[in-house]
Amino acid sequence: MSSVVVITGSAGLIGSEAVRHFAGLGMDVVGVDNDMRGYFFGADGSTQWNLQRLVKEVGDRYTHHSIDIRDRDGLDKLFTGLGSNVGLVIHAAAQPSHDWAAREPFTDFDVNAVGTINMLEATRRHAIEAPFIFTSTNKVYGDTPNSLPLVEQETRWELPEDHQYYGGIDETMTIDSSMHSVFGASKVAADIMVQEYGRYFGMPTAVFRGGTLTGPGHSAAELHGFLAYVMRCVMEQRTYRIFGYKGKMVRDAIHSHDLITAFGAFHKAPRVAEVYNMGGGRFSNCSHIEAFKIAEEITGLEARTEYVEENRAGDHQWWISGTRRFEEHFPDWKLTYDVPAILREIYEANQEMWKA
Ligand SMILES: NC(=O)c1ccc[n+]([C@@H]2O[C@H](COP(=O)([O-])OP(=O)(O)OC[C@H]3O[C@@H](n4cnc5c(N)ncnc54)[C@H](O)[C@@H]3O)[C@@H](O)[C@H]2O)c1
Repeated sequence: MSSVVVITGSAGLIGSEAVRHFAGLGMDVVGVDNDMRGYFFGADGSTQWNLQRLVKEVGDRYTHHSIDIRDRDGLDKLFTGLGSNVGLVIHAAAQPSHDWAAREPFTDFDVNAVGTINMLEATRRHAIEAPFIFTSTNKVYGDTPNSLPLVEQETRWELPEDHQYYGGIDETMTIDSSMHSVFGASKVAADIMVQEYGRYFGMPTAVFRGGTLTGPGHSAAELHGFLAYVMRCVMEQRTYRIFGYKGKMVRDAIHSHDLITAFGAFHKAPRVAEVYNMGGGRFSNCSHIEAFKIAEEITGLEARTEYVEENRAGDHQWWISGTRRFEEHFPDWKLTYDVPAILREIYEANQEMWKA
């Protein structure tokens, strides 16, 4: 069996967790990351610290390449060298922020959409049999979830229990006729292209449409990294700005570990052109108000928040992922972290770095 894994965004939250996991299984990992998160979000966002930690932990099993995924020739050269030794591709490099994309739409599209076809084409030419896993986003559904009949409760918005999506929004929701944001649209382009390389070329591709993905490997910044940024603000006594919906917007959260075990399950039994909504579901979700309450309990500190009346354009008021399709295909896979466990781990892992 081919034993090299190519992971883009390898210094980021998801990429770095994937590096650890697959190196731990004895595979050689080739990482691609140019620390562009530092360009997107400034010093808070740079993933350099995580890369250094990774290199120390994983040692010789990991080789780093600071290639820009927009650099088609650079990727092709990398894959030419690796050839059919590539047994798995995880494409997690991206411009990940909804809000940032509108600042530089060309950059966002070049990274998210063009970078993805560059990766797909390099894989098709050099390792067509390798499962190709892509981290898409629930933003492909645009603002359609905001038309759900939400009911206001004390600390959160909620769906009536008899609603078809109460257990979570599944892949049957349309991706058309909604406002996606510039980011959502560039991810839709990538998402559809990954499906197309599955359908058209028969490649074992999978699109994972994530809700909130989180974990201690997140370089928490205001524009990206919800739970990690909540914890960082409480620990550093920074003011967190809550944008609209009375702070009651609901997010489901999945720990990067649980997402990577899902990737592992797909790697072992790949399928063609799959699409999965993936998140913490009913097992792991919270509103902003609830997240701060848990963070305060864990840290013993009081959160500082500022409420901004206007919500972020197209921001979801309520999102819980329906993961039944994935669970039916991979019945042995289970979520292991809920929101309090995730927040506690983020707290423990960052005690040295995040101090008031
Ligand atoms: N974190 C979330 O809540 C979330 C939710 C849904 C989907 N996703 C998706 O999951 C994927 C991974 O997200 P993450 O949270 O790990 O993001 P991240 O920002 O932590 O990691 C992405 C990494 O990609 C690198 N990168 C960016 N542009 C690059 C380029 N042009 N060339 C090479 N490397 C580049 C960055 O430096 C960063 O280290 C992304 O596709 C994102 O859209 C994330």
